Amino acid sequence: MATINNHYLKLKAGYLFPEIARRVNAFAAANPDAAIIKLGIGDVTEPLPEACRTAMIQAVHDMGDRSTFHGYGPEQGYLWLREKIAAQDFQARGCDIDASEIFISDGSKCDCGNILDILGSDNTIAVTDPVYPVYVDTNVMAGHTGPSNDQGEYDGLVYLPISADNNFTAEIPEQAVDLIYLCFPNNPTGAVASREHLQAWVNYANAHGSILLFDAAYEAFITDPTIPHSIYELEGARTCAIEFRSFSKNAGFTGTRCALTVVPKTLKGKAADGSEVDLHSLWNRRQSTKFNGVSYIVQRGAEAVYSEAGQSQIQALISFYMENATIIRDQLTQAGLSVYGGVNAPYVWVKTPHGLTSWDFFDKLLSQCHVVGTPGSGFGAAGEGYFRISAFNSRDNVNEAMARITATFQG
Ligand code: MLT
Repeated sequence: MATINNHYLKLKAGYLFPEIARRVNAFAAANPDAAIIKLGIGDVTEPLPEACRTAMIQAVHDMGDRSTFHGYGPEQGYLWLREKIAAQDFQARGCDIDASEIFISDGSKCDCGNILDILGSDNTIAVTDPVYPVYVDTNVMAGHTGPSNDQGEYDGLVYLPISADNNFTAEIPEQAVDLIYLCFPNNPTGAVASREHLQAWVNYANAHGSILLFDAAYEAFITDPTIPHSIYELEGARTCAIEFRSFSKNAGFTGTRCALTVVPKTLKGKAADGSEVDLHSLWNRRQSTKFNGVSYIVQRGAEAVYSEAGQSQIQALISFYMENATIIRDQLTQAGLSVYGGVNAPYVWVKTPHGLTSWDFFDKLLSQCHVVGTPGSGFGAAGEGYFRISAFNSRDNVNEAMARITATFQG
């Protein structure tokens, strides 16, 4: 009989979001009249910006004419999209990033996992706790960890606890670690990192030959002008950082799929013979072999994000979700709950009341308020006693969910 990748057997029972869906479906089946409001998974609800739709419709027409038809595109993405990203997302912020260092993909989640293809299996890996579970699970799948303990912590990973005490930004470790996953604005806590904090990480990484895997999927939600949007705004990041970005949250592409990963040509890793190898070439080789690019139609839609109309439409979307975040913060605070995040990020991180565990609070909200959130413990042991509420929903649903929660917890 063929054998399997045994590392999968080390994974905790289910990926967090399918487990939530399982519980919600069971509740819905038992309570068919309950009007459930989902503020769990960070999935957008508002329509795609008109500029993107118009561009995609035009692209469909292009595909219907032999003279403008597109077959396989470049595995790295079309240059017309990569050039706009380089100019508007990076160079406009003073980042020295060239279009040739940008790789278009179908998602940051995929790239965060796929990047492990080009990195060694003997690296020491640090993640924050709590953390976006994909960083951990993909390392487990790749055999980079031992088994997990009762709290879900895997042997072999270095956990950097984040809490209100350190503003949800990890202390720089004493020990040398090779790979560090950083996500700012943070999923799940909604925290942001100051320029000084990020510079300290860049300095640490350059001093130790480490690589920062910087997830900037929520950068568009930053409202504080002093907070960097890209790791490449920091001096020295070109020699120590890979950045992941996405069109999912800023432009509503969760169902459309388009993202990008930046691998600077100046970033090196060490080969078994001790020589230095540039990671850009390896990622290019990986993508060219395993990926055939994002569809022409979707890339045209993403390109429209950079038009004048596209920029104003995505700003309106971002503001809409951030107004939701403000409502959530204000209402939960009035209900007597302690809240974090939600100012520069679309996630509000809530301390569970009365010492409830994260999953107890999940069950209470679901059964009493018919509102779904995400248990903090699903993001790591240090997330126990916290709960994440997503600002991605319609205004009516956010208002209704908050009215139900405040009525339950104020009373
Ligand atoms: C989340 O809810 O954490 C996100 O939707 C997950 C993701 O973007 O993959």
